[in-house]
Amino acid sequence: MKAAFIERHGGPEVLKFGEMPNPMATSGEVVVDIVAASVNGADWKVREGKSNPLSRFPHILGRDFSGVVSAVGEGVRDLRVGDEVFGVCDVGQEGAYAEKIAIKAAIVAKKTDRLSHVDAAALALAGLTAICAIEDTLKVKAGETILIQGGAGGVASFAIQLAKHLGARVITTASASNHDYLRKIGADEIIDYNAVDFTKVVRDCDAAFDTVGGDVAPGGRAAFIASGAQAPKPDRSDVVALRPSVGRDRQHLERIVALVARGAVRPLEITCYQLSEAVAAHKVSESRHFRGKLVFQVR
Ligand SMILES: NC(=O)c1ccc[n+]([C@@H]2O[C@H](COP(=O)([O-])OP(=O)(O)OC[C@H]3O[C@@H](n4cnc5c(N)ncnc54)[C@H](OP(=O)(O)O)[C@@H]3O)[C@@H](O)[C@H]2O)c1
Repeated sequence: MKAAFIERHGGPEVLKFGEMPNPMATSGEVVVDIVAASVNGADWKVREGKSNPLSRFPHILGRDFSGVVSAVGEGVRDLRVGDEVFGVCDVGQEGAYAEKIAIKAAIVAKKTDRLSHVDAAALALAGLTAICAIEDTLKVKAGETILIQGGAGGVASFAIQLAKHLGARVITTASASNHDYLRKIGADEIIDYNAVDFTKVVRDCDAAFDTVGGDVAPGGRAAFIASGAQAPKPDRSDVVALRPSVGRDRQHLERIVALVARGAVRPLEITCYQLSEAVAAHKVSESRHFRGKLVFQVR
């Protein structure tokens, strides 16, 4: 199969496109013929290898995908060859920048016809993370106000729509060029973080969701996903800092499908690349200034 992989850590230029062995489904697994796979911030962090260097190469990057089941391992009863599925690799597993992946059947879900494979791949890890943060960790309720930092990113774009669906008022931060987009997906108040220090102007939030990893939220329950594996320790007594636990299971993926079916969450804005263009996609992802998601159209 064709794949985008690395043979050593380094800058975007270490990404190679070429042939890798086809995966096989072991017991409890399915092989998915990947149609689309998305780029996540974690991918270039893994590629760089600064915090957790890999011990084995070549390594196929990529954590989420959408595609069609092409083989079923022993013991798998609830998925069949031909099923359209999407999913997020298990913690510690990667390999979605490829034409095929073997993955536990229990952590993929059937894709809805309302989403293309490109849309489903874009929503998988972003949606899973947003649901774990907004519903499971922050437990956002109707009538509350939440600050979502980094509104135009994939996770935050989903989180804004979910918080609005739950009945919250949403304040978000973004550069000026993304304000129209954020208004369209439902943000009530948008702060241009280049012009205004949000820590000085945002008051009386019940909750905050930081997807940027910068300044500390202005009080309340605060969830952090871009500050490492632990929540930072804010030097303010009015902030309860939380690190969402983003596990893998079918249930959370089915929640994404249900939110889409209800019209609560719409597909994200997407820029598509070929797998052979992984270097270019990583350069954009690393710049951290784009809207929505970057997605590989694999086939
Ligand atoms: N399981 C997990 O823990 C998990 C899962 C998924 C993602 N993450 C992490 O969560 C973070 C967000 O990921 P993502 O994929 O949603 O987005 P991303 O690709 O990391 O960020 C892109 C967005 O960030 C915005 N941005 C950059 N600097 C900003 C700032 N100072 N203030 C406000 N917005 C800013 C940009 O918008 P502007 O152009 O408007 O600046 C852009 O839309 C990443 O660090 C990622 O690694 C963690």
